[in-house]
Amino acid sequence: MRLDRFLAESGYGTRKEVKKLIKSGIVKVNGTTVRDASRRIKPESDIVTVDGDEVFHIDRFYIMLNKPAGYITSTKDRELTVMELICDVPRFENLFPVGRLDKDTTGLLLITNDGELAHRLTHPKWKVPKVYLATVEGKLSEKEIKKLQNGINLGDFITKPARVKVLTENRDDSQVEIEITEGKYHQVKRMFEKIGHPVKRLHRVSFGTLKLGNLPEGEYRFLTEEEVKKLKEAAGLR
Ligand code: URA
Repeated sequence: MRLDRFLAESGYGTRKEVKKLIKSGIVKVNGTTVRDASRRIKPESDIVTVDGDEVFHIDRFYIMLNKPAGYITSTKDRELTVMELICDVPRFENLFPVGRLDKDTTGLLLITNDGELAHRLTHPKWKVPKVYLATVEGKLSEKEIKKLQNGINLGDFITKPARVKVLTENRDDSQVEIEITEGKYHQVKRMFEKIGHPVKRLHRVSFGTLKLGNLPEGEYRFLTEEEVKKLKEAAGLR
């Protein structure tokens, strides 16, 4: 593993920050100062110190939860939080949800202790796509669909172009697939509300390269190595 990645994963800051740290000459590998951030180390046997303190590598956990309604996306709250659903995971206390789903929203929620990845996945720069199935009141006209696709003025901001596909239409409501690359507060609900079709149910089916698939509601699983790799690549990390 590269030295800069090892330090970033161990909580010494972002890649950029740890590169500076290494350059400053306070990082040693087996007693020798190393100023090359790309230096390869073996986390299980090499001794890395920062300013004399030994660095202990933190294992990273990546969990996909199919969030049920009724849980708050937070680590602590007076109400039930999503963390209650995954409490038998080791080192549970360092885990946190990436981004937010409303209490009544269901579906894919990533939970991790990888701060660097979480930061990138929620940063607008990386335009991570999120796909939702929204059950909305009424039927959408072509004009309304175009509005959703082109951008809607929500007062404090104009939404970026979205992909929109009406999947089914019934007498009272429609099921619409919508993909957005932003993650503003109540964004999807506000977009539909604005065009006169309030959201009745909202369910997230994908987040970046991750797909919820047939994971049952309320259950979670660890991501595969391949899924973690793809997610990191999409966020500019390797
Ligand atoms: N948009 C919303 O309005 N709510 C969510 O939970 C997620 C996206």
